[in-house]
Amino acid sequence: MQTQGAGDARAASAVATRFFLAGLATAELMTTYLGMRLGLYTALADAGPLTPGGLAERAGIAPRYAREWLEQQAVSGMVTVHDAGVTADERAYLLPAGHAEALTKPDSPYSVAPMALLPVGGVAAVLPDLLAAFRSGGGVPYASYGGDLRGGQGGLNQAVFRHHLAGWVRRALPDVHRRLAAGDGAVADVACGTGWSSIALAKAYPRSHVDGYDLDADSVADAQRNAKAEGVSDRVSFHVRDAADPELAGRYALVCLFDALHDMSRPVAVLRACRSLRGDGGAVLLMEPNAQEEFGAPAGEIERFLYAVSVLHCLPVGLAETPSAATGTVLRPSVLRGYAEEAGFTETRVLPVEHRFHRLYRLLG
Ligand SMILES: C[S@@+](CC[C@H](N)C(=O)[O-])C[C@H]1O[C@@H](n2cnc3c(N)ncnc32)[C@H](O)[C@@H]1O
Repeated sequence: MQTQGAGDARAASAVATRFFLAGLATAELMTTYLGMRLGLYTALADAGPLTPGGLAERAGIAPRYAREWLEQQAVSGMVTVHDAGVTADERAYLLPAGHAEALTKPDSPYSVAPMALLPVGGVAAVLPDLLAAFRSGGGVPYASYGGDLRGGQGGLNQAVFRHHLAGWVRRALPDVHRRLAAGDGAVADVACGTGWSSIALAKAYPRSHVDGYDLDADSVADAQRNAKAEGVSDRVSFHVRDAADPELAGRYALVCLFDALHDMSRPVAVLRACRSLRGDGGAVLLMEPNAQEEFGAPAGEIERFLYAVSVLHCLPVGLAETPSAATGTVLRPSVLRGYAEEAGFTETRVLPVEHRFHRLYRLLG
């Protein structure tokens, strides 16, 4: 047995501290999930300050749980105590305005709800499937992750599309912007998910139509509901379709494929379909993770996040069909270039768009 030196003890202590903090953050994220799914933050935002009894009544939960949750939220700094010096049941709690903005407004650029929905509701439910997939080499179908994953993933990108997409098209694809603004051509949003990119483009270009395509029927149903709520359902149509289907036809001014290629078993077939959906003078626009050009370890937070999502979701989803390219979330520019070439494109251009999590590509030729 090796003797332990001072360096080993320091490393063990550092990893123990790191895991305590990670465990704490995970447990607190789970309590946040309860607050979101039970409408506790919304109740506090709408009616605060609230006592445990007041919150219980408003949200329809048991008072003892309301008290414990409020105390936990207060010690973790998510809510503040409105009046100290009274009994636990009389104590009232407030959700500060900034926290209410981030926790209860899905259309806010600061929305954080998806960060709890995605791992806690979406991934935890399929952990037994993931254990089995790791052993067998098989995959976990997208639909198995359920509504929290769909909502969490869509929610994360909703803010991106709502606040950035129109500006990106205007600045980085001026030719497409001019056409869409003039109503000269339509948009295909391939693998549209819950529809937020289609909705953002429909709002930016009121004279153009958007067709959203996705393989997942529940995502398409969510997208239809979202478009209706956003008042654009007359100009956006959603279809349950396989993007790799060679019979998918159209002549679009803009073909989008956002945050989806790395999940797909047949990325080259889908890129080929995107190429043939593009009409004369049209553009194919991709948004993919802002992965480093090369593997390097240890890496920064973005690369760590991408790898964690890959292990837990994107790679298993990609492996749910065979044969599979088995790409994973960390789709590096060089790999994308290879897929695009195989699909018949002659140039993969990285667009001058800055985003922490995303990189935009225009495929030409
Ligand atoms: C990570 S989600 C991205 C959704 C959306 N574009 C966004 O950015 O929020 C990936 C989507 O790709 C869809 N998808 C995967 N393979 C597909 C295929 N072959 N045809 C159409 N959609 C597909 C999934 O159903 C899922 O909605």
